[in-house]
Amino acid sequence: MTVFCIYGGILPLMVFILMQNVNGEECTKVINDRHYSCEGRNLTYIPTSIPSSVEMLDFSFNWLPSLQKDLFPPLYDLQVLDLTRCQIQYIADDAFHNVKNVTTLILTGNPISYTAPGSLNTLHKLQTLLIVDIGLLSLNIQFNNLTKLQELKAGTNKIQTIALPPFMINFKDFHVLDLHANNISSLQVNHTAVLRQMKGNITLILSSNPILHIEPGVFKDMYLKELNIQSAFVSFDAMRYGLKALNGLNVGKLIIGNYIVQKTIKISDADYLAGLCLISFKEIHFCQRESSDSEISVFRCMANATKITLNQGYIRAIQQDSFHQLKELGIYKSQLPIILELSHLHLLERLVVVDNRPAFFKGLHDLPKLQHVNLSRNQMHLSDCCSNYFTGLPNIHSLNLSFNTVIYLSRNPFSGLESMKILDIQGTKLRGLRTQFKFFKSLKYLQYLDISYSQSTFLKTMTFSYLSNIKVLNIAGNVFQEDALSYIFKNVSTLEVLQMSNCGIQYIDWRDFQSLSRLRHLFLSQNKLTVLDFVTHSNLRSLTLLDVRTNSILNIPPYILQNLPRNLSDIDLSFNPIECSCSQIDFIIWIVNHQQLLQQSSNILCKILSQDSKIRVIDFDIEGCVHIRRLTIVLCVCAVTFVVFVSVLTYKFQFYLRYGYILLRGYRASREQECSYDAFVIYSSKDEPWVMNELVENLENGSPPIQLCLHVRDFEAGKAITSNIIDEGIMGSRKIIVVVSKHFVESSWCRFEFEVAQSWLVMQGNANIIIIILEDVEEEKSKKVFGLHKHLKNNTYLKWGGNPINNMRFWIRLRKAVITRN
Ligand SMILES: *[C@@H]1O[C@H](CO)[C@@H](O)[C@H](O)[C@H]1NC(C)=O
Ligand SMILES: *[C@@H]1O[C@H](CO)[C@@H](O)[C@H](O)[C@H]1NC(C)=O
Ligand SMILES: *[C@@H]1O[C@H](CO)[C@@H](O)[C@H](O)[C@H]1NC(C)=O
Ligand SMILES: *[C@@H]1O[C@H](CO)[C@@H](O)[C@H](O)[C@H]1NC(C)=O
Ligand SMILES: *[C@@H]1O[C@H](CO)[C@@H](O)[C@H](O)[C@H]1NC(C)=O
Ligand SMILES: *[C@@H]1O[C@H](CO)[C@@H](O)[C@H](O)[C@H]1NC(C)=O
Ligand SMILES: *[C@@H]1O[C@H](CO)[C@@H](O)[C@H](O)[C@H]1NC(C)=O
Ligand SMILES: *[C@@H]1O[C@H](CO)[C@@H](O)[C@H](O)[C@H]1NC(C)=O
Repeated sequence: MTVFCIYGGILPLMVFILMQNVNGEECTKVINDRHYSCEGRNLTYIPTSIPSSVEMLDFSFNWLPSLQKDLFPPLYDLQVLDLTRCQIQYIADDAFHNVKNVTTLILTGNPISYTAPGSLNTLHKLQTLLIVDIGLLSLNIQFNNLTKLQELKAGTNKIQTIALPPFMINFKDFHVLDLHANNISSLQVNHTAVLRQMKGNITLILSSNPILHIEPGVFKDMYLKELNIQSAFVSFDAMRYGLKALNGLNVGKLIIGNYIVQKTIKISDADYLAGLCLISFKEIHFCQRESSDSEISVFRCMANATKITLNQGYIRAIQQDSFHQLKELGIYKSQLPIILELSHLHLLERLVVVDNRPAFFKGLHDLPKLQHVNLSRNQMHLSDCCSNYFTGLPNIHSLNLSFNTVIYLSRNPFSGLESMKILDIQGTKLRGLRTQFKFFKSLKYLQYLDISYSQSTFLKTMTFSYLSNIKVLNIAGNVFQEDALSYIFKNVSTLEVLQMSNCGIQYIDWRDFQSLSRLRHLFLSQNKLTVLDFVTHSNLRSLTLLDVRTNSILNIPPYILQNLPRNLSDIDLSFNPIECSCSQIDFIIWIVNHQQLLQQSSNILCKILSQDSKIRVIDFDIEGCVHIRRLTIVLCVCAVTFVVFVSVLTYKFQFYLRYGYILLRGYRASREQECSYDAFVIYSSKDEPWVMNELVENLENGSPPIQLCLHVRDFEAGKAITSNIIDEGIMGSRKIIVVVSKHFVESSWCRFEFEVAQSWLVMQGNANIIIIILEDVEEEKSKKVFGLHKHLKNNTYLKWGGNPINNMRFWIRLRKAVITRN
């Protein structure tokens, strides 16, 4: 593994994987356990990974030159076996023994030169056999036991005759014989002997053969379900005589004409379809690619047809009187300008006239069974539409007038068309909508309306309120007068699908959609929306699909994402300028985690500055943002911890801080100040009587008088006490007298003063502290006062005695100590 971690190891690994896919054994599961594909792997054997339960196996494009008995493992459930283009040349006896239940066998594109008699014949259940493009010269292959065979598809070979081997008479269910693109040039009566006896509903496909000659009566009194002879004749003459030779044939569906342009039809050729009059058919599909100078009477022999489809014919009008059975008529790409007016075709159900040169539409009248009308793409120009054009159509169900030139709507355009359920006018310029909002009034059964790209402007009217059954509405590519959105969907409560792409919409208020409680699909692509807050409102609770491709959405805030309609399962956000930045990380993560919901998630791109770079939102570096976010959190936590730590320290050592501060201030101030007292006295207030009565009395009133600084008396009022200690007391005095007693030791304030004084003097470099022991203090307690113990130990103190002699000596020593300068 470590090898592949090295950069250079990745390429060989990928090549290895690719090779595995091309040449590997592993076939892929297509749908479930029953459908496998091994297509295009150039395999020479059936991989063991295919389970025996497989029902469909696509083994096309592999390498099996010779099919031997042991090639297939037992796959008794196999129904469909595709061996397209596997280079098969030789099929041995019993080659299919292990797949004997196959019903569809595809051998297309193999150069088969030998088929053993006992190979195909073991496939007793075979229904469909494809032997397309295998170089077959005739149908003389050994498949005589395949009595269940229904379809034989042997197109693109070199077969020269439609004659079937006699044993096929026993194939009771046989119904499709496909011999397209073979080498059949002649059809003779004796070639159809077997087909004739089969009597089934046979579909015979002979398209793209080079038929030159047909013996008259070849299909006489025969019934075929379908006969395809498109592009099956070498020339017009061959076709003309060939069709005549099909006299007496009874066929369900006849497909004639040409796929490819052969040549111009001359006037003398114009009756080349006359033979159709001798054939009996229900449906005819005619594709006429040849050009002609004039109209050809194609319909002449189609009078009894029920369905006519004409592709690229040369017709100008339809001789409608001649159709008695016609139910469906389709005219596509007529090469001449067509005049269209039909009436009295009492059986006509479906009319499709599409994609023709300019059609001059005169109307449809009295067609009682007509249901479906499609007149799209005919460059039509209809004025005073539409009731005038459609009368006597009581069963009209759908009308398609899309992609024509222009339609001018009349005052009540759809009266008489009340039964209509589907109306499509997309892509046709619609005039009159502006002035007439009641114009859908008669369409109360309409379920589907498409007026997209009709150059319409919707006014502030309840345009669709009369459509009380409308389910699908497409108004894309039109414009709204200002505020019109808040009117046009009023009372349209049945709507399920609304398409409003490309309408220049910038904002939708939820009230615009208030009545659309059944709306399931909403298409709003190519607008200018920036916010989607309207979807969170409960009126759109049925919504399952929301398409907002190509809008101007930068991001969707969390409250919208959390309140999307519950059943919404498909959102398309492609091609919006999504803001890819760490500040939108929640939205980006939502996109990454909801790719199931966002079907086109790889088209959701980041907003970019230059046109040529494309960054998919799902590729955005979320990790980077998470990293930054984590870092920010860590830094914040650190900062908070630091502040807390400092606060705790400050609180704990506030005393010392204050102390340090005082020292610092005092130090700075000391240089400017002259001493105004001889000594500052530090004492406990509880010793005040002694201080006032004894100390002050003896020192201040003695000679020379000593000026003492006492905080009760001399401190400046209104100044902070600490400042006073420094300014007035310690710095304003030359010496410091400390009155030590039990009270002194217990008072934290005294201790503080003493320590400040000590430190101060240490900083000043002299030791002008005079300690007076007023009463003995236990050693333990004296240790509590920093520095005091040292003084006591060194006996550098004065002790207040009890008797007058000692006291006298005490005062003398004290006075001397205070006065002495050092
Ligand atoms: C398929 O395999 C055969 C034999 O294994 C080999 O001769 C042939 O060239 C291969 N074809 C391709 C396209 O790889
Ligand atoms: C073909 O059918 C015949 C008669 O039913 C039978 O004797 C013969 O064994 C079958 N051949 C194969 C290969 O199944
Ligand atoms: C088609 O059949 C004709 C004989 O009818 C033969 O001369 C010709 O070579 C065949 N063409 C092909 C491509 O087999
Ligand atoms: C042919 O098909 C039609 C309807 O498709 C059916 O009525 C008829 O019985 C079928 N004939 C045969 C011989 O299968
Ligand atoms: C249509 O059918 C009628 C009666 O079955 C027949 O007389 C007539 O010749 C047929 N017309 C065509 C064009 O086949
Ligand atoms: C109407 O015709 C157009 C063009 O032929 C087609 O695309 C459209 O699907 C049709 N409308 C309906 C409702 O079938
Ligand atoms: C709207 O619907 C309400 C109730 O369904 C109805 O009374 C009202 O007439 C309708 N308005 C229009 C203009 O159709
Ligand atoms: C949401 O879907 C469920 C299951 O498909 C359905 O039963 C429910 O009615 C739907 N809810 C709404 C509001 O359409």
